[in-house]
Amino acid sequence: MKILVTGGAGFIGSALIRHVIRHTGDSVVNLDKLTYAGNLESLAEARFSPRYAFERVDICDQVQVERVLREHQPDAVMHLAAESHVDRSISGPAAFIETNIVGTCSLLEAVRQYWQTLEGVRRQAFRFHHISTDEVYGDLDAQGLFTEQTPYAPSSPYSASKASSDHLVRAWQRTYGLPTLVTNCSNNYGPCHFPEKLIPLMILNALEGKPLPVYGRGDQVRDWLYVEDHARALYRVLTGGKIGETYNIGGHNEKRNIEVVQVLCALLDELRPLSANPAVRDAMRARGLAGGHYRELITYVQDRPGHDLRYAIDASKIQRELGWVPEETFESGIRKTVQWYLDNPEWVTNVKSGAYQQWLDQHYTTRMLSP
Ligand code: NAD
Ligand code: DAU
Repeated sequence: MKILVTGGAGFIGSALIRHVIRHTGDSVVNLDKLTYAGNLESLAEARFSPRYAFERVDICDQVQVERVLREHQPDAVMHLAAESHVDRSISGPAAFIETNIVGTCSLLEAVRQYWQTLEGVRRQAFRFHHISTDEVYGDLDAQGLFTEQTPYAPSSPYSASKASSDHLVRAWQRTYGLPTLVTNCSNNYGPCHFPEKLIPLMILNALEGKPLPVYGRGDQVRDWLYVEDHARALYRVLTGGKIGETYNIGGHNEKRNIEVVQVLCALLDELRPLSANPAVRDAMRARGLAGGHYRELITYVQDRPGHDLRYAIDASKIQRELGWVPEETFESGIRKTVQWYLDNPEWVTNVKSGAYQQWLDQHYTTRMLSP
């Protein structure tokens, strides 16, 4: 099978492509605009695979998307391209409306036209898999779980834009018969996560002795899903999910934000103790801190506007119907994640310096780029 993945240079998209190339015989076309969140360095291992191709294309550019579909003739589309950061959606919602809503609509139209050109078994087997978020359901108080039947109640410009895109996908299924699948998942974490999000931001700030900004009192609860478990779930839904169905994907790992930050600090104390990081320890001491533990860097800051209190996923449908369960516990996944950031200083340095955005020019010949 050949899969067109949109947003494949992002955090989850790159994990999905690594999974497909490593563990299946399928081919992948990665269609990505390479915004600030796109990092081809996360796909370094796939670059020379004959089963991998890259197309630098904006999903809003329907003509280019149609060309890619015509040239590559995929059997499925997995749609991950999006603006994904809630804080950015609060300071600048326009890009979220453009990519997540207008871009998804444009992509759906291009895919619908392409799908109508397919015949027989290829047409029947085709799938459009839309990757969405648990944030479309709004938030929960201390009790309850999001199920696939929970009504939509998005809070932020980001989640409202994702909710809109979910509705568009379902409308294309019901109106035009496009064979769609939708998944809504909880907070992912793991390797190659851009350090604007909680977990990588805290790891990298701590290693530099910078404050660890916890919004409000850090009481908000998220359900953490290791990104490689998510990649496995997505592939399972693509290959076994029922047309028109929605599947919630979660990690069974509900944690308060402050607990997550404390776990990260404790792991760093163990794996990169401040005694072995004297420049940071001395800088902390110069600021009046004891310099003994990373947790001294925790700083409570103004809360996120409209901050959702608690997310928690009921993932029993995907377990029951498709046999998927996460393989990582939070304890095993978070340790692997911290270790990954310690073991990959080049990836980290290139993200911090912005050099990752030149990776394309340095590592790809123009022959491999879109015309
Ligand atoms: P990300 O921000 O890391 O990556 C997004 C990718 O999309 C980047 O490579 C970017 O270059 C690309 N992109 C953005 N706009 C584009 C456009 N107009 N055309 C083509 N490419 C474009 O995001 P992520 O964390 O990997 O999330 C992937 C998907 O999963 C998103 O749809 C997101 O809403 C959803 N999701 C993410 C999480 C999470 O915890 N990260 C949880 C639930 C759902
Ligand atoms: O639930 C799924 C969603 O998870 C995805 O749809 C989003 O794309 C993804 O970004 C993520 O959204 P969150 O807003 O939950 O993730 P973020 O890492 O930004 O924040 C996690 C929690 O940590 C949230 O309650 C806000 C808090 N936070 C975040 C940052 C960046 C802090 O306290 N301090 C911070 O500096």
